[in-house]
This record gives sequence, structure tokens and C-alpha cells, in this order.
Amino acid sequence: MKTTQTIPHPEQVARSRAVEQLVLGKATSDGAGVKLTRVLTQPLQRRLDPFLMLDAFRSDQPGDYLGGFPDHPHRGFEAITYMIAGRMRHRDSAGNEGLLESGGLQWMTAARGVIHSEMPEQQDGLMEGFQLWLNLPARDKMNPPWYRDFKAGEIPSFVTDDGVSARVIAGESHGVAGAVTRAVTEPLYLDVHLPAGARFAQSLAPKARAFVYAYRGEVVIAGTVVPEHNMAILAGDGADGVLLEAGAQPARVLLVAGLPLDEPIVQHGPFVMNTEAEIYAAVSDYKEGRLGQGG
Ligand code: CO
Repeated sequence: MKTTQTIPHPEQVARSRAVEQLVLGKATSDGAGVKLTRVLTQPLQRRLDPFLMLDAFRSDQPGDYLGGFPDHPHRGFEAITYMIAGRMRHRDSAGNEGLLESGGLQWMTAARGVIHSEMPEQQDGLMEGFQLWLNLPARDKMNPPWYRDFKAGEIPSFVTDDGVSARVIAGESHGVAGAVTRAVTEPLYLDVHLPAGARFAQSLAPKARAFVYAYRGEVVIAGTVVPEHNMAILAGDGADGVLLEAGAQPARVLLVAGLPLDEPIVQHGPFVMNTEAEIYAAVSDYKEGRLGQGG
């Protein structure tokens, strides 16, 4: 399948959104001792509604990742795992299994519940990737779960005249539809690779909440430098999009945007619902073996 395309509709942005805040992720560990950086943390969930979490992991020390994420539940949202380097095998309570490899994507809609494991399938070498959590509208939280794996070549991509390459994980950019589209929150999720000195424009809906995470090198947005390993929260300032500029070095960033749900967010670990009562139900369903059963 040929997924690198010429650009059907180059994006035009008259004025870039400004950077409202720079956030340096917090080092933490999750699963069975996997070291990672939590970039989007719980206090930012309202500001970045509909996104609930962004974890970045990157290590060539097997001790940092070999423990993986043994069986654990999820309910109420979607987990999007994007691998830059390495191999991770996932298995879930519905009997699904898949291998996520360098450049690949897993889009998992937990909805009413899955129990799954995410385990490294390598003994050494670099493991690098991201997990983004996207909230579900209240009306969809108890739908049946769904997932799909995309190999690297199945993620649509394009190259601009400026030599910028972009992979469209979700949404639409420059007229290229992404691997996944979603109603209601209309998520946009791009992996953008900028050569030194290049610029990249992306239009954004005025109401969309948006952020950029610089995972290699740095970019400049409306005059603000976004250093490596920083997330820039983009202001809701009425501008029609964002302009990314690389400096003297190439840069690689994630650009993420979506429309807010404006619904209550109640999180208890791997469960994200709208009320405390729904969280109690999730916990008791899990303890009593009902979560993830019966498809
Ligand atoms: Co999980």
C-alpha cells in the first residue's frame, strides 16, 4: 500500500496560536516498573479535554522496560499506543493478540472494559514510544470495546514542499485522512518530522484544545522556543492554526488537538468515568470478574 502522498490541500494558517504554557514531563514508573515520563498529568485533564494522559517512554536500558505492563483493566476511554522503536506484544480478555513494532500504532477503545497486557518483546535495544489517552463521550463509555493494530506502512503520511514529513495517526492534515477518525472529539494526532529551518502549518478549529510535544530537538511556535521533551499547551486565542518552525537542527514533534467534551471527569487509575458511582461500579465489576467478560 502506498501511503505517502502528494498533498491534496496544503494548509494555510494566517496567524499561529501562541504557547500558553510549557510543561516538562514528570519521571515516574507504571506497570511492572516501566520507567516513563508522564507528560500530560491529571491536573491538566480539564485544560486539555478530551485528552487524559500522555506518557512518553524511551530507554535502551532493558531494566527500565522489561517488566512491561502485565494484565490490567481499562474502562471509559481510548488508549492510543504509538511505537517509535521497539516491539511490544499485547493480549486482551477478548482473545485478541497483536505485535506492535517500530512505527506501528495500536488504537484500543476500552469503552465498557478490557483487561490486557502490554509486554516488551525484546531483551535489549531501544524501546521508544507514546501512549495517549483520549476520553469517550458519556454516551459511548459503556459501548463494546474495539481495537485495531496498524503497521508502520498503514499510517497515512505525506511530505510538504518544505521537506516536512507528517504521519497522520488521527484526523486530517493537508487533505490526508488519518488512520483513525472519530466523531464528537474529532482528534488530530500527527507525528511531524521537520528538517532544519523548515516550517509546518496546521489549521485548528477555534474550539480545539491543542498541544505539541517536542520529542527530538526543539521547535519555535509564535516566537516561543519549545525545548526537547517539553509539551507546549497552545493558547485558545482565536488564531486559525499553529505554525511550527525548526531551528538550526531537525526536530520531531507530536501535534495533538481535539474538541472538548465538557463533561465531568472522574478518574480512578485505569478507569475514567463521569461520576463516583460509575467508578465504584467499574471497581466492583473488575473485582468480581465482570469487566472484560462477555465481549
Ligand atoms: Co493498558
